[in-house]
Amino acid sequence: MLSYRHSFHAGNFADVMKHVVLVALLRYMTRKEAPFCYIDTHAGAGGYDLRGEHARKTAESEAGIGRISLATDAPAPVVRYLDIVRRYAATAGPSGYPGSPWIAAELMRRQDRLMLCELHGSDFPQLRQMFRPDRRVHCYAEDGYRFSIGLVPPAERRGLILMDPSYELKNEYSMAVTTLGRLHRRFATGVYALWYPLLAGRDSAMLRRSVDRLGIRDMLNLELVIADRNADVGMYGCGMILVNPPWTLRNDMELALPYLAEKLGRNIDSSYRIEVWSVE
Ligand SMILES: C[S@@+](CC[C@H](N)C(=O)[O-])C[C@H]1O[C@@H](n2cnc3c(N)ncnc32)[C@H](O)[C@@H]1O
Repeated sequence: MLSYRHSFHAGNFADVMKHVVLVALLRYMTRKEAPFCYIDTHAGAGGYDLRGEHARKTAESEAGIGRISLATDAPAPVVRYLDIVRRYAATAGPSGYPGSPWIAAELMRRQDRLMLCELHGSDFPQLRQMFRPDRRVHCYAEDGYRFSIGLVPPAERRGLILMDPSYELKNEYSMAVTTLGRLHRRFATGVYALWYPLLAGRDSAMLRRSVDRLGIRDMLNLELVIADRNADVGMYGCGMILVNPPWTLRNDMELALPYLAEKLGRNIDSSYRIEVWSVE
């Protein structure tokens, strides 16, 4: 039984980082005229209301998008993300915040396809409803780990795969990494982005070791730390593992991550990391 609902966390610091990266990846993918396929293994509801009951309960967005939505000093990759957030609010209402599927659909073209997996019984109908008139979008009430394997390689031979699990289950770090490896074996040229939380008491080094064991050559690891790992905050940061990252991403992140660390950091311990990850 799934209990995680992204509506409690939408627009928090982790969403901001993830969606800044996603916008940068999508912009790169749309540079070429050739179509591509976007796969979201854990899609969520597609969009959220930051004044809704769930979001108000945690108020997490106040320490996320709330800190930068009106910024006038943001670097270009963050400005591009903020522009998408504003476009969503213009259609959904001022307290609307977009989910990854909406961001992707907004930046993708007529020739592209979106494949979205979401298992939650309440979020899936919302997701399907959001994209009902959009023929590019296919929504599946399926397990994203299992179902995505059959979606690759896509017919387009170009693909961006976002893996954004809720890490509710004990073995989910290993499920995520195993799935990344299986996907990559079937579709080695795809661009992959796997999001992960940095949690006090959980060993993210274990995640790194299992990613190392996949033996994938071209990877980038991005991390944003917004609090002291010993502070009583639960998630003190988050990261993303990129496989086959576009050559433009590193430069974008060198602009975006220091800014996000400064704006979203809760104390002087905020930091970021951009690490080229190459396996011999
Ligand atoms: C972190 S949220 C996704 C947020 C979304 N990617 C975004 O950025 O807007 C994770 C979602 O995965 C869903 N989920 C959990 N396990 C799943 C699975 N095995 N397959 C598909 N969806 C799953 C949860 O219901 C939740 O909505």
